[in-house]
Amino acid sequence: MAKPAKTKTKARAAKSVNKPQISIVPPYEETSETNASLLARREAAVARGVASAAPVFAARAENAELWDVEGNRYIDFAGGIAVLNTGHRHPKVIAAAKAQEDLYTHTSFQVVPYEPYIALAEKLNELAPGDHAKKSLLVTTGAEAVENAVKIARAATGRPGVIAFTGGYHGRTLLTLGMTGKISPYKKDVGPFPSDIFRAPFPNQRDGITVKDALTGLQNLFLTDAQPERVACIIIEPVLGEGGYTPVPFEMMRALREICDQHGIMLIADEIQAGFGRTGTWFAIEHSGVVPDLITVAKSMAGGYPIAGVIGRAEVMDALLPGGLGGTYGGNPVACAAALAAIEAIEEEGLLARSTEMGEMFRKRFAEIGARTAPYRMWDIRGLGAMLAVEFVTDFESAAPDAALTKSVVAHALKRGLILLSCGMHGNALRIMVPLTASDEIIDEGMTIFEAALADAIADT
Ligand SMILES: Cc1ncc(COP(=O)(O)O)c(C=O)c1O
Repeated sequence: MAKPAKTKTKARAAKSVNKPQISIVPPYEETSETNASLLARREAAVARGVASAAPVFAARAENAELWDVEGNRYIDFAGGIAVLNTGHRHPKVIAAAKAQEDLYTHTSFQVVPYEPYIALAEKLNELAPGDHAKKSLLVTTGAEAVENAVKIARAATGRPGVIAFTGGYHGRTLLTLGMTGKISPYKKDVGPFPSDIFRAPFPNQRDGITVKDALTGLQNLFLTDAQPERVACIIIEPVLGEGGYTPVPFEMMRALREICDQHGIMLIADEIQAGFGRTGTWFAIEHSGVVPDLITVAKSMAGGYPIAGVIGRAEVMDALLPGGLGGTYGGNPVACAAALAAIEAIEEEGLLARSTEMGEMFRKRFAEIGARTAPYRMWDIRGLGAMLAVEFVTDFESAAPDAALTKSVVAHALKRGLILLSCGMHGNALRIMVPLTASDEIIDEGMTIFEAALADAIADT
């Protein structure tokens, strides 16, 4: 079996279509640790509930490549779970973070405020869809952003109810777990969850749920459990993330907008995974033309730094009293500087157009590979822009999800030097989260490895 190539100094691909402005080759310290020794230490010291997809340990990373502690090279199609649309260590992001570190790293915005927070809020207000007045709140994690969006919607409407969708993922805190529509592994054994959270069906080809069915399900929910005048918000991912990279049909999104307007409900777009260029637009909801009341953001906003936020209608965002929002670390200045730089990189390097172009490349390549190497096993290629997934089945007739094959492809890909992540309600989809800054050559190399890993996995079955 092919081993990942061992190279220790290669930085960004020389032929990158988006050449870095400065070349940074990080110092690489030799370590006596191996992947096996770190795995043993990890198992002894880290809680079992924190899972890792790859049993190898990072030593350094650059754009769409990563090296483990043994010097093995990997192409990274996972991007730290959709955090790295601008790649590992984008030179602009690193320079901005370092410059900020030389000034101050923390004051707490609630004690002594600072300009980078305001500049980022201004930028987010400008980028978010809709020409109404907007305001933003900055926090640290995606789940925290979702929690705060719900608080804001509740305070603005004076209502308690939250409607989320089957297969939706909104985080691992107790409120967001209540909203997340998948039991294992997230919700298993940790309930009860907060009340007044209701679930509506997500339109889904696999289960034969049409947009009409989904909307009927929502109307039935209004009749049976969720009195519409008591509902504060409907929250939806414009492209399901963990749930399988399934886009919300645009007519569904438009219908949700109408329903929200009819009942005075806030529409929240959870763009934590789909935002910042992943789908070819700043926010995935833009494809449908719908303007949400609130948007939750995180992940690729800051190219690898922990920051998240809520963007919304100014009057809605102002619903809470001073002190009702925030947190010690919310809108950390280093992360704000990184986010401003990442957003600038997306603008300057044309990464929205690159995402669309990349999406087309991946679709074509997946279709060819499916026909050649896995006939009747690759059931669906779906997504928006470069937010793409392929779904594996045992055969086309039954379309039974094949999680075992998916898992095996991920394992073989890693052995050959490609980091992949699965997703979906049945764990049988592979998603593409490669940096939008990756060169055509790197993508080509990754897809060649993917095809070989798929062949290995099929041979094993
Ligand atoms: C759509 C969506 N919402 C919320 C979250 C939670 O974000 P975090 O893991 O930063 O708390 C995620 C994380 O994957 C996500 O994809």
